[in-house]
Amino acid sequence: MKKRVLSGIRATGRLHLGNYLGAVKGMLELQNNPEYETFYMVADLHTLTTPFETKDFQSKIKDIVLDYLSAGLDPEKCALFVQSHIKELLELTYLFSTQVTVARMQHIPTFKEKIKQYPKNVNVALLNYPVLMAADILLYKATFVPVGIDQEPHLEIAREVARKMNEKFGTDFPEPKRFITKGDYVPSLTGEGKMSKSISGSSILLTDSLETIKERLAKTPTDLGKGDKVPDSGGVNTLLTLVEFFEGKDKRENYEKDYLKDGIKYSSLKEELAEAIYKELKPIQERRAKLERDPEYIEKILKEGSLKATKVASETLLEVKKAMGLV
Ligand code: ADP
Ligand code: TRP
Repeated sequence: MKKRVLSGIRATGRLHLGNYLGAVKGMLELQNNPEYETFYMVADLHTLTTPFETKDFQSKIKDIVLDYLSAGLDPEKCALFVQSHIKELLELTYLFSTQVTVARMQHIPTFKEKIKQYPKNVNVALLNYPVLMAADILLYKATFVPVGIDQEPHLEIAREVARKMNEKFGTDFPEPKRFITKGDYVPSLTGEGKMSKSISGSSILLTDSLETIKERLAKTPTDLGKGDKVPDSGGVNTLLTLVEFFEGKDKRENYEKDYLKDGIKYSSLKEELAEAIYKELKPIQERRAKLERDPEYIEKILKEGSLKATKVASETLLEVKKAMGLV
């Protein structure tokens, strides 16, 4: 039997280079490897744990689907669906939540961050976020999960749940591992923290034009361009990291040599980098433009993806219910 893979992204806005390099690239690699059966979704239920707009929720969901497909997810190779369409998921989430302590959930770093970010919105679903994610993954008995490094604490919970269920109820869940890509931590354009949808000015979107990319890079803070140690944090580090991803390791090393010797001219570095990023994004944007004109096609593949996912999900749920003595 093929090994299974599951991943998802919340519907909080269009994808940026961090999402692309940290998650989507890994999703593509596994989709194209015939040893794996891949399940990819839009995590709409997880989106509800932080403040959201009802009005444009559907279009936010479609945005992720469009970004996925234009980046190369192929519905012939993977099942593509919307998380909430799989009814079995919430039942499994409830069953798993009986096996996880409140204290364990309160110690998850992402929960602590979200409490700080939204102190007036500390809802029960936020606390249960990792349990829903564990159910997402284990519903398909996935062994690999392509996500960025920030999701590691959630994967740890999924492994703990798998272990506990297997020990206590004799189920056969695998312990899922993160599928690691080179870009699993893309730093922010602001020079502080990671590139993120929720930090303004931190990211470049897959849909950005060349002009916008240039404008965004122009704002990245730099230094004199010269010194006796190449910075390993801040704006210069972000630029060099992006150079490595889009122009290659050699190019980065050349800039590093320049930094230690004659100095870097940031205006030309940014110009070249913008061109290199846009070169990779252009075909993605062209595919997106076509897909945007075909909403029926999108509906059709989501329906097919749901059917495929539901088949696996219903088998797993029945196994768990039997194992727990519910049926
Ligand atoms: P954001 O932090 O921008 O809201 P999400 O939390 O929706 O992004 O993340 C979606 C996926 O993209 C996850 O797998 C996450 O690990 C990955 N990801 C997000 N930001 C980055 C980043 N800066 N570098 C690498 N991967 C990232
Ligand atoms: N928590 C993930 C994020 O913020 C989204 C997600 C939900 C997910 N369920 C998942 C990722 C299952 C991988 C597997 O990006």
